Amino acid sequence: MTKFYELSTEQRLQQLYQAGYLSAADLKLLTPSQGLPTEIASHLVENQIGAFGVPLGLAQNFVIDGKSYLVPLATEEPSVIAAASNAAKRCQQAGGFQTKVRREGLNGQIVFMGQLAHAEQFLAQHLAQIKAVATKAHPSLEQHGGGFKQITVRQVGEFVEFLLLIDPAQAMGANVVNTLTEAVAHYLATQLPQLELLMAILSNQVPNQRVQVQAQFTFAELATKKMAGQQVAKKIVAASQFAQLSSSRAATHNKGTMNGMNAVVLATGNDTRNLNAAAYADLTDRHPTWTQWQITDDQLVGTIELPLPLGQVGGAISTLPLAQLSLKILQQPSAKQLMSIVASVGLASNLAALRALVTRGIQAGHMNLQLQSLALMAGANGAELEAVVAQLRKQPQQANLSLAQAILQHLREN
Ligand code: MEV
Repeated sequence: MTKFYELSTEQRLQQLYQAGYLSAADLKLLTPSQGLPTEIASHLVENQIGAFGVPLGLAQNFVIDGKSYLVPLATEEPSVIAAASNAAKRCQQAGGFQTKVRREGLNGQIVFMGQLAHAEQFLAQHLAQIKAVATKAHPSLEQHGGGFKQITVRQVGEFVEFLLLIDPAQAMGANVVNTLTEAVAHYLATQLPQLELLMAILSNQVPNQRVQVQAQFTFAELATKKMAGQQVAKKIVAASQFAQLSSSRAATHNKGTMNGMNAVVLATGNDTRNLNAAAYADLTDRHPTWTQWQITDDQLVGTIELPLPLGQVGGAISTLPLAQLSLKILQQPSAKQLMSIVASVGLASNLAALRALVTRGIQAGHMNLQLQSLALMAGANGAELEAVVAQLRKQPQQANLSLAQAILQHLREN
């Protein structure tokens, strides 16, 4: 019998339909979309049956290093886009986001079991050949401005670890780094028969690709109807200080920062898991958040600093039509510019969350989108949606799914 992975997407859907896993309505949900045609999706993953849509929206008001951007965000979380746009607007007057980027490459890790005496000497003797092997493994990388940069070695307990530094040029780099690393590992294995090769793989710790972003907010831009801007600023600083002291709060503080960063990373076809692995690997008990807030010269000053393994070509970035569209909307940024954009959105998301938390609380700002989500869950569509939301808004304290369902039923009966 033909195996599931050998079937075409259409055949897989028919099989699932006939076996009762999917109804005719389910098949409609899985209709191929213009945004991700089956020819592309079925070559990206195995056993593909459809494309999973999340909303794609644009954050406005971002001025980064003097350039204006509309930033595409792919997220299912209500209010992430509005919050980022809102925070970006509040620092426009003070010049927007200023960034510094260091992008020197990614590490590939080669691990052997055993002991290597005179490791440095071995490396010096083999360096030219290692470089030649690495270059041959991906000859076009140097033409794109990247390539092998250096290799170090150290004994770690019973293991010998070689660490390669590879510049992936404009790519995110996982494939390129793995290709070069495996090639060098096989060469080293031939030269070190006394050791046993354990593995060769990209490291998701990214110390050589870092971005730092700063933004200033005047007190006037932070004020709410009920609170003076200076008081809001002081409370944001206090909230930032508390996150340094409480790991329970730091986790939430960081989640708010990630809300925006993950969404841009997803929208541009970059690897969200790589972003998360690298960013969280940078945190320690003494440095538990990527962002810091302080008051300087009567302004609230925010900074974010973190490693970002991102690219603007290769893999899903080049294959997913909507990732290409996102990059077009971002005016085809270089990989460095993309790092600046993602970190700026992270800082904006964090500011928006903190400002809401220390003023009217998070739920008030989410109210409208939450009511819409309740109306959608109740089954409202078209014009019904606004009508149900309008009724729910009259009694926000009681708003829940059963009330939304009752309102919808009443609406339909009348
Ligand atoms: C919710 O997605 C994110 C927040 O909890 C972040 C924070 O508390 O800083 C609002």
